[in-house]
Amino acid sequence: MRSGIVIFCAALLGAAIPGTAPQRIPLAAQRSSPQDLEVSGDVPGIPPGGKRFVGYTDLSRLAQVTFTVKNDENFSDPVTLSGVSLDVIMAALGIDGATQLIAASADDGYEAHYTAEYRAAHHPFLVLRIGGQEPAKWPKGPNGENYGPWLISHPSFSPAFHVLAHKDEAQIPYGVIGLRFLNEAAVLKELRPPGAASAASPAMQGYRIALQNCLRCHREGDIGGTKSPFGWPQMALIAQGNPAAFGKYVVRPNSVNPEANMPANPDYDAATIAALTAYFRSFAPGEKP
Ligand code: HEC
Repeated sequence: MRSGIVIFCAALLGAAIPGTAPQRIPLAAQRSSPQDLEVSGDVPGIPPGGKRFVGYTDLSRLAQVTFTVKNDENFSDPVTLSGVSLDVIMAALGIDGATQLIAASADDGYEAHYTAEYRAAHHPFLVLRIGGQEPAKWPKGPNGENYGPWLISHPSFSPAFHVLAHKDEAQIPYGVIGLRFLNEAAVLKELRPPGAASAASPAMQGYRIALQNCLRCHREGDIGGTKSPFGWPQMALIAQGNPAAFGKYVVRPNSVNPEANMPANPDYDAATIAALTAYFRSFAPGEKP
């Protein structure tokens, strides 16, 4: 009788194991389709500085999630999106997700960033189907944009934190070509204000904002977007040398440069701008921490 129960439990556990033990996803050395997802960084089996490619079919064999997404700004109407959570992709690559930050790079130099904290709060997923359709049949976005090769969305996004006038912002890139897996502690150390800033200091508040906002288009070392030609060192010099122009640019780039491509931040108030200015200024030469 007893052993019967043990066998029965083992059968139940056995049935649960395929879901919990992640299958490893094959990595190809060469791209074989424009739809292949580029994978790089700290990934078992990828040499430092190298990259590998993962196919759509292999991603579609991982556990899929499906949501009716109602508040993704890339879609004007509610839409059914299916795909694979970024955490499932990490597990399938053999990565310890708790220590990694994911950078999703788009074809236009935009880069979105997913910390472990962000992933736990918002459950971002790589979209494989829009309205049940594969990429060849995807519609264009509200402004005529191509969503593919890849985009990232969330089941439902609500801000998990506020820093001054900055609200936790959905990281929803489209045109994504690759995912980079980076050591989160090392990335955050590079971006933290140099010196010993206390957690409540304006520079630390600016850091949290810059990490979610500015880093998508501006670069520091090998992290961040390249949409803007100005990286952290240039922004530090502007914040130090001309804080008024810096603040004006952040709130309303068009008021300074009519041709500006940078999006405006009309909700950022004086304290928020002061925090961003203090943060970038802390990277300028001669600044005391
Ligand atoms: C979506 C992309 C994007 C984001 C996000 C972004 N920027 Fe920019 N930024 C640009 C681009 C592109 C330029 C180059 C000039 C232009 O086209 O506006 C630029 C230029 C600048 C400049 C230089 C202005 C000059 O010419 O002197 C400053 C300062 C700046 N950004 C600050 C920031 C700060 C601070 C943040 C975060 C709060 C931020 N940017 C977020 C795209 C972005």
